[in-house]
Amino acid sequence: MDEIKLIGLMYLLSFCSHLSALPINVTSEISMLIKRIIWTSRNQSNISLEFNPNAILNTPEMIRKAGYPTESHVIMTEDGYLLTLHRIPGGNDSLPVLLQHGFLSSSADWIVLGKGKALAYLLADQGYDVWLGNFRGNTYSKAHIFLSPLNSTFWSYSFHEMGIYDLPAMITFITNMRSQPLHTYIGHSMGTTSFFIMASERPKISKMVQMMVALAPVVLIKHMQSPVQYLNLIRSEIKTVMRLLFHDEFFQSDIVRFLLKKICLRNISLAEICSNFMFIIWGDDREQFNNTLLPVILNHFPASASTKTLLHYAQIFDSDKFRKYDYGRVKNLLIYNSIDPPNYDLSNITVPIALSYADNDWFISIEDVKRLYHLLPNVVDMYEVPWPKFNHLDFIWGKDASKLVYDRILKIMRGKNPKNVTSVNNIVNNQN
Ligand SMILES: *[C@@H]1O[C@H](CO)[C@@H](O)[C@H](O)[C@H]1NC(C)=O
Ligand SMILES: *[C@@H]1O[C@H](CO)[C@@H](O)[C@H](O)[C@H]1NC(C)=O
Ligand SMILES: *[C@@H]1O[C@H](CO)[C@@H](O)[C@H](O)[C@H]1NC(C)=O
Ligand SMILES: *[C@@H]1O[C@H](CO)[C@@H](O)[C@H](O)[C@H]1NC(C)=O
Ligand SMILES: *[C@@H]1O[C@H](CO)[C@@H](O)[C@H](O)[C@H]1NC(C)=O
Ligand SMILES: *[C@@H]1O[C@H](CO)[C@@H](O)[C@H](O)[C@H]1NC(C)=O
Ligand SMILES: *[C@@H]1O[C@H](CO)[C@@H](O)[C@H](O)[C@H]1NC(C)=O
Ligand SMILES: *[C@@H]1O[C@H](CO)[C@@H](O)[C@H](O)[C@H]1NC(C)=O
Repeated sequence: MDEIKLIGLMYLLSFCSHLSALPINVTSEISMLIKRIIWTSRNQSNISLEFNPNAILNTPEMIRKAGYPTESHVIMTEDGYLLTLHRIPGGNDSLPVLLQHGFLSSSADWIVLGKGKALAYLLADQGYDVWLGNFRGNTYSKAHIFLSPLNSTFWSYSFHEMGIYDLPAMITFITNMRSQPLHTYIGHSMGTTSFFIMASERPKISKMVQMMVALAPVVLIKHMQSPVQYLNLIRSEIKTVMRLLFHDEFFQSDIVRFLLKKICLRNISLAEICSNFMFIIWGDDREQFNNTLLPVILNHFPASASTKTLLHYAQIFDSDKFRKYDYGRVKNLLIYNSIDPPNYDLSNITVPIALSYADNDWFISIEDVKRLYHLLPNVVDMYEVPWPKFNHLDFIWGKDASKLVYDRILKIMRGKNPKNVTSVNNIVNNQN
């Protein structure tokens, strides 16, 4: 075991030296980014490092502390994963809503902003029956009926399996329990990717969903601006390192969180460097980021994920095609009966969909959202957040997310469509 770790470590070192072989302008871009992180960290607004009780609570404890009732349900997927659904139950005639987090995240996303601001609480205040999902592998769903997370078979999944197994298990459980369809599914980032896969591969399940709200939808990502794209250049190295060190988990998130807390919450200047580092990855918007929340955020983020999920995104970035996992020609022939993996067919998705996106989202550019719009047959709302610096994670952590985004969602859910589809079409076509 230790020998394997040693080999992994040596691999890691050789791969660091490998970095110097990257194209010149990539390395210079990265070094410019690092300079920017340090430079912009000098005169930063204050980060309060006072003790925040939410920084040690889990999702149900935070919900209870905010004064809401809460339940946890453990459900099993068809392939044996045990997922935890958190819930803020509504009354007997309330409408069920499912919220689904993104990559490296968890159900905590929807409550971090606190009472009166976080989407889960706003929905509960409006009388909805609020369900918070947790995808396989994350903090609350790291279990399987017979596979141990120490076995790399456990981590052999991407958002594909989340779409064809996790979401169907959650949606079936909720709709059976409530004997009614899901009123709305709300996904952020990877929570949208997997929904589109579910809707295209398991149309019967998607019939149980009356509407979908997509926040920062991740389907096509060719025009990504985030430096995360450079990971693509070293993805075979990442694959090997993660295999040798973490049995295909994408880092050991518990350790990463522990280290980040130790480093970032040590003193104010280090906290600023950490939050700047995050801005570099998903878009700079320090006005919307509440520094006081950093200890709470780092209690949950990053949650565990599989390396295969990252690799599947890298493939979509490379091929610019929303398609199944590429195992290489030979294995593809065996699995898919074709050399290239098949595309997901979005043209049959009948669920009405509201797309919400932002200008400063370094993961998902407006161009890519517009391309997605043209692939989906039933878009009922196309909403660009009216704050030019809004970034990928402001959808869940932004100070004004409730005003800028959630108000609109609540309106759409009440059936008051702010725009009709024809005018959406005009907007999209005129800007092309
Ligand atoms: C990087 O180098 C390539 C080829 O030399 C060039 O086409 C490209 O514009 C450069 N990119 C940047 C950001 O300088
Ligand atoms: C940082 O603050 C110092 C003094 O408070 C000031 O002199 C300096 O110009 C500031 N630098 C930036 C980049 O804002
Ligand atoms: C930082 O905090 C100090 C004391 O709490 C306050 O005087 C100062 O105005 C704050 N600075 C910023 C930029 O908010
Ligand atoms: C909800 O329904 C259950 C069982 O039908 C009943 O026991 C309970 O009192 C109801 N609650 C409310 C608030 O109506
Ligand atoms: C991982 O699980 C698979 C399937 O149960 C099993 O065949 C394999 O031996 C396990 N590997 C390890 C290292 O335990
Ligand atoms: C923060 O901690 C680092 C490392 O311990 C130290 O170098 C730095 O001076 C500290 N900054 C402040 C403002 O205390
Ligand atoms: C989509 O719909 C068309 C026409 O109804 C049908 O022929 C096709 O098989 C459907 N595709 C999928 C993936 O269900
Ligand atoms: C920032 O977060 C703290 C802690 O949750 C909260 O008390 C404060 O109101 C938030 N500030 C803004 C501007 O949202």
